[in-house]
Amino acid sequence: MPPGHHVVVRELGEDPREAIERFITLEPMTMPDPQTLAPTDVVVAVRATSVNWVDIVMTSGQYQHVPEPPYTPGLEYAGEVAWVGPEVTTHAIGDRVLSDGFATGPRSSGAHRRNGGFASYAVAPAHALLPIPGDLTFDEACNLLGNYETAYHCLVTRGRLAAGETVLVLGASGSTGLAAIHVAKLVGARTIALGRSAAKLDVVRAQGADLVVETGDLATLRDRIKALAPGGVDVVYDGVGGELSTAALRCLRFGGRFLIVGWAATPNVSRGKGQRGAPNANQLPTNLIMMKGIDVLGCPTVIGTTNDPSLRQPRLAQLFAWVAGGQLRPYVSHRFALADWKAAMLAKLGNDVIGGCVLHP
Ligand SMILES: NC(=O)c1ccc[n+]([C@@H]2O[C@H](COP(=O)([O-])OP(=O)(O)OC[C@H]3O[C@@H](n4cnc5c(N)ncnc54)[C@H](OP(=O)(O)O)[C@@H]3O)[C@@H](O)[C@H]2O)c1
Repeated sequence: MPPGHHVVVRELGEDPREAIERFITLEPMTMPDPQTLAPTDVVVAVRATSVNWVDIVMTSGQYQHVPEPPYTPGLEYAGEVAWVGPEVTTHAIGDRVLSDGFATGPRSSGAHRRNGGFASYAVAPAHALLPIPGDLTFDEACNLLGNYETAYHCLVTRGRLAAGETVLVLGASGSTGLAAIHVAKLVGARTIALGRSAAKLDVVRAQGADLVVETGDLATLRDRIKALAPGGVDVVYDGVGGELSTAALRCLRFGGRFLIVGWAATPNVSRGKGQRGAPNANQLPTNLIMMKGIDVLGCPTVIGTTNDPSLRQPRLAQLFAWVAGGQLRPYVSHRFALADWKAAMLAKLGNDVIGGCVLHP
């Protein structure tokens, strides 16, 4: 196999920008030597790897799962099997596979935690690789699990979103936000997509959102949303945080559900360099929650699934069925060569991306 390259995080930054500028390098690599691998390992020739928000925040140790440098980022990747260990019966050379970020790469805890997808070759245990469903391309496949499992866990499992209900999706142009629009439509809900950019919202509308609303003046957001959903929306999907959360609480009907998905607007909630603690945590007003009888639901997908592993198989089965039926296809707006990893990470950090951003090793 020809030699290649991998991206290596040598040290955690105070914040992702410092990590990107000072501590991340592109280094040569060769196909891993089978003599050094386990009999249950598989080597994947990576064709596309997703640049996730989690990949970015991990480089400063500000994500709840702190990686140990040196490591290669890339929670999720897709490619072709290049080598299988002698005990592997589930995969063969040439198979098209995607990685399960729960079980391999920097979000995992075991022997493969340094082996992310920002690389020409990635090593994973056989059980962490799944066949690419339907006719998804490599670019689409590496944007499936993290985004759509999150959207499903938050909206369906935690949010109990039902057909005919209205959901307001904050950060709807984002990776998990656009996935939330897709999943909400598939369960029969009405979707209102919120974002700061009219151009990005045009794409979100083309991707299926029923209504799109520019964030604009937060003081008038409640009135503008209630004009579209009299009495207020049933569910808010909040992956943005900051002052937008409070404005969005006001958009809920009495008894609505508020899903806490993340805080893309306030990435410095936690200390940098992998120090524990969250001195800058977002806060919600209890008076609004009380008087409106709101259910506030924390929605950590990986942690929730670790606590209740039975959640996963039905979720994966539904997502794969939607893909196989041609009803679900991740959207990818940005593509970069692996050598342009820095531009890709900065594009994601700068909110240029709609849906997915991929690197091509
Ligand atoms: N709960 C879970 O299990 C889970 C799983 C994965 C990710 N997450 C978290 O969910 C959050 C979103 O992740 P993602 O992958 O969707 O991120 P993303 O792709 O970067 O999208 C976030 C969106 O938020 C909006 N946004 C960013 N900064 C903003 C600001 N200052 N004010 C208003 N809007 C802002 C942007 O939309 P516009 O520019 O269009 O306004 C952006 O497209 C992150 O905090 C991530 O860690 C949670």
